[in-house]
Amino acid sequence: MKLINNSILLGVLFISGICNSQNTKTAQASLKNSFKGDFYIGTALNVSQIEEKDAKADALIRKEFNAITAENIMKSMFVHPSKDKYDFAMTEKFVAYGEKNKMFIHGHTLIWHSQLARWMSEIKDSTEMKAFMKDHITTIVSKFKGRINSWDVVNEALNEDGTYRKSVFLNTLGESYLADAFKLAAQADPKVDLYYNDYNICEPKKREGAIKLVKYIKANGGKIDGVGIQGHWRLDSPSLEEIEKSILAYSELGVKVAFTELDITVLPNPWDLQGADVNQSFEGSAKMNPYPKTLPDSIQNKLAERYASIFKLFLKHKDKISRVTFWGVHDGQSWLNDWPIKGRTNYPLLFDTNLKPKKAYNSVMQLKELENNKIGKKKVFKN
Ligand code: G3I
Repeated sequence: MKLINNSILLGVLFISGICNSQNTKTAQASLKNSFKGDFYIGTALNVSQIEEKDAKADALIRKEFNAITAENIMKSMFVHPSKDKYDFAMTEKFVAYGEKNKMFIHGHTLIWHSQLARWMSEIKDSTEMKAFMKDHITTIVSKFKGRINSWDVVNEALNEDGTYRKSVFLNTLGESYLADAFKLAAQADPKVDLYYNDYNICEPKKREGAIKLVKYIKANGGKIDGVGIQGHWRLDSPSLEEIEKSILAYSELGVKVAFTELDITVLPNPWDLQGADVNQSFEGSAKMNPYPKTLPDSIQNKLAERYASIFKLFLKHKDKISRVTFWGVHDGQSWLNDWPIKGRTNYPLLFDTNLKPKKAYNSVMQLKELENNKIGKKKVFKN
């Protein structure tokens, strides 16, 4: 009798497994559906994607992603090219694209030392800088109040050792510019989520700097809702341990954690070469561009394993993570084809240049299939 019962149970499990995997296949046909209920899955859009120039790319974006960031067009030099002139034409298109597709819309970025208009980098004193920040932040955030869901208020304000980066903002105002920026953004749109965003902030020293920075902003009256870990990573670093420590450390500050610019380079780095002179030109060097045509299976597999282990960790801490955004839709558009050496062929994302899903895509999707199957099985046992 017991044997029969067990067989029935196994049968139920088997059938339920099939049904479950079929259900999950329909429900999990895209990244955004698979991770629904965990965190947003975003991508960075370039101009041609915002303008829907390529129908195939557009279909892929709408199918796979439910959050968007503008890769370049919302940076200061583009939206505020001269003191008395704002240009929101492209931002309007970007926001309209997100609204049309019911996507989470992230604003990148308000205060950043890079891609500034020249007139901004020439600001000399605190009075002029205060006036600039008030006008710049208030105008931009108010303009899209209620339409943009979160902002990178301050971007990349730290050096690698965790100290403050020298910039026109720090030089004119000292660290008070950090709290001021968050205060101004919150005044302009009290409901929008406000982030500090930076790279390498899973590295211990820079992480300590970021923690101090968040505490400083809070202690000085700024409203900060999240830390954006950019996630421009490599196959072997940062370690999962450091990523996990960072998720925990930031969320202990009472803020959300987002992975805002995720990509994983598979190419050698000139700074790794012993005795390499960074000023030396590596352009055109076969050694530095080892996979100009295709990525060998061995590396493709490594990339898939790396992405799977990272997403497994993200799922473990999904209660702390608001969004995971890839820095681009497909390998062909990635900034990593041109940095730190121009003209290489890199493979950092989940879709290849032909917009086909890579092994890394499948490995990330399989994580959710496994998770859902486990839940399905648990339910059968419970009954
Ligand atoms: O628009 C000009 C074009 O007119 C010109 O013909 C072409 C020639 O190189 O350059 C074009 O500008 C490029 C711009 O991207 C738009 O494509 C710049 O050279 C290039 O430097 C710029 O790079 C961007 C970079 O930020 C600038 O710092 C990358 O696309 C963008 O992916 C990257 O994104 C940053 C995040 O904003 C912040 N975190 C780091 C991340 C990666 O660097």
